[in-house]
Amino acid sequence: MNRPYTFMLVAVSLDGKISPRRRPGQPNPIGPSLINPEIMKLHNSQRAKTDGIMVGLNSILLDDSRLTLRDQAEGRNPTRIVLDGLAEIPLTARVLNCQEAPTIIAVTKDAPAERVKAFQERGAQIITSGRGRYVNLPHLMRTLYEQFGIRRLLVEGGGTVHQSMIAAGLYDELHLIICPFVIGGSSSISPVERSSFWPKGQVPVFKLDKAEVLGDYLYVIYKPGEISGRQ
Ligand SMILES: NC(=O)c1ccc[n+]([C@@H]2O[C@H](COP(=O)([O-])OP(=O)(O)OC[C@H]3O[C@@H](n4cnc5c(N)ncnc54)[C@H](OP(=O)(O)O)[C@@H]3O)[C@@H](O)[C@H]2O)c1
Repeated sequence: MNRPYTFMLVAVSLDGKISPRRRPGQPNPIGPSLINPEIMKLHNSQRAKTDGIMVGLNSILLDDSRLTLRDQAEGRNPTRIVLDGLAEIPLTARVLNCQEAPTIIAVTKDAPAERVKAFQERGAQIITSGRGRYVNLPHLMRTLYEQFGIRRLLVEGGGTVHQSMIAAGLYDELHLIICPFVIGGSSSISPVERSSFWPKGQVPVFKLDKAEVLGDYLYVIYKPGEISGRQ
């Protein structure tokens, strides 16, 4: 299938969380105030190397992310892609400022037409894939590649989107930045949310491709594949 070369990037705590559970409007403690500027720069440089950055609805509702290049990262802003099956993003969301960077909202056939029109009036482009709340990801990936020229795609989150992407076998690389802090809490968000891959099927396995120590942080890249030394 034609689809972009796609990688996940998460900043994960020592206890394997990507965020405490928050209400919209509550500030995100996992950001520039906690993460070393060199690591933020590295994150930015990964954004700069892509054609598209994709996130799920909750990441927009909670963080109101702009998903643009910062810290003088060179290059043009990648296209922002938001998975928003029922077209629920607030019209005031910063990602709908399409003067700053192109935006694609991925909806399903069940998204209300007047909401979709309002997104288009703000300059966003629409891809319609599947039915119900969840966008059909294989169809979306093919459309991004064939109709929008997206060849390299970064998926930043959150955990629900990563679960769907892994379940559909759509990741070529998993990038994890292991950060020197602990978030704690059984309700905190992990890099892969929603439902477990076991016992319905086999747990997906990945092979270590690269590991780099960056001060107190560890940047690791895994690719799909067999684990070496397994019986
Ligand atoms: N540390 C990091 O690197 C990092 C990076 C990014 C985000 N985060 C954090 O992650 C948290 C958000 O994660 P989350 O798991 O709650 O939500 P999420 O993955 O951001 O968004 C999931 C939502 O996207 C919509 N969606 C539409 N089609 C989908 C599909 N095919 N598969 C999956 N989702 C689809 C669904 O909305 P509906 O069901 O509502 O229609 C779904 O509930 C935030 O706290 C954010 O700060 C952390």
